[in-house]
Amino acid sequence: MTGALRITLLGHGRLGSALAEGWGLTGAATPTILTRANQPVCPAGTEALVIAVKPAQWREAVTPLATSVPPGAVVISVMAGVRSADIASVLSRPIARVMPTTAVAKAQGVAAIWADDVEARGVAHALFDPVADAVDLDQEALLDPATAVAGSAPAFFHAFAQALASAGFEAGLPPEAAERLARGALRSAGAGAATDASFEDLIARIASPCGTTRAGLDALMEARLSHAAKAAVEAAVARARTLAGDQTS
Ligand SMILES: NC(=O)c1ccc[n+]([C@@H]2O[C@H](COP(=O)([O-])OP(=O)(O)OC[C@H]3O[C@@H](n4cnc5c(N)ncnc54)[C@H](OP(=O)(O)O)[C@@H]3O)[C@@H](O)[C@H]2O)c1
Repeated sequence: MTGALRITLLGHGRLGSALAEGWGLTGAATPTILTRANQPVCPAGTEALVIAVKPAQWREAVTPLATSVPPGAVVISVMAGVRSADIASVLSRPIARVMPTTAVAKAQGVAAIWADDVEARGVAHALFDPVADAVDLDQEALLDPATAVAGSAPAFFHAFAQALASAGFEAGLPPEAAERLARGALRSAGAGAATDASFEDLIARIASPCGTTRAGLDALMEARLSHAAKAAVEAAVARARTLAGDQTS
């Protein structure tokens, strides 16, 4: 598989534009972008149609295109909670589902990939390996927890950093300082996560026994941090399953 794939990208919102930016940055692909203003026609020669519209919009967006998608093209869906069987009922092509983060824009994303079809999986890797740490899944159902732990999770970390900033403010920091410090801490944590060190090692490098970090970590555990993480993942998975149900007709 080379980087010269002819890609059509349906949807140029937050994720679609991040993908186009990352592919441009790495030279992986120069997609033809379909927006509402375009004619609903898939260009001849398209080798992969990437669907990046909202789950509630996909049928309305894809149905008018269906007859123009070349027979040899594969479909790559980055939509949360839209099952491949539902997409296949409108577009009978090999399908890969991918759950990326918007950091693909800077070629620093992570992406869970599932496909039954070998060719579709290969195309998904050709498109996502250059812009993300691409993680293969062997069951479609695993995309729901992967969505929670990858696609949605940056928002969970931002929410945690925001809560830390508020706690810093309550502890006396000026609001602007509290926010800058929490943002910086999130960047530092991201730099650690970009290494090969285990989470355990990353924590141990900062938390000396009986130190301030250890005291904070103990308080987080007492406040049931793992319970909060589990609740977030379970809620996101349940929502993905509801969305999938909503999309089945
Ligand atoms: N954002 C993320 O971090 C993220 C992460 C993983 C997966 N996803 C998935 O990515 C998909 C897109 O999410 P998003 O956050 O990028 O949403 P978004 O910002 O709302 O983008 C959706 C885009 O699709 C366009 N669109 C809708 N109907 C269309 C049509 N008929 N023809 C052409 N374009 C059409 C919209 O255009 P208008 O503005 O004109 O409606 C909009 O630009 C979702 O399915 C989501 O589950 C997102």
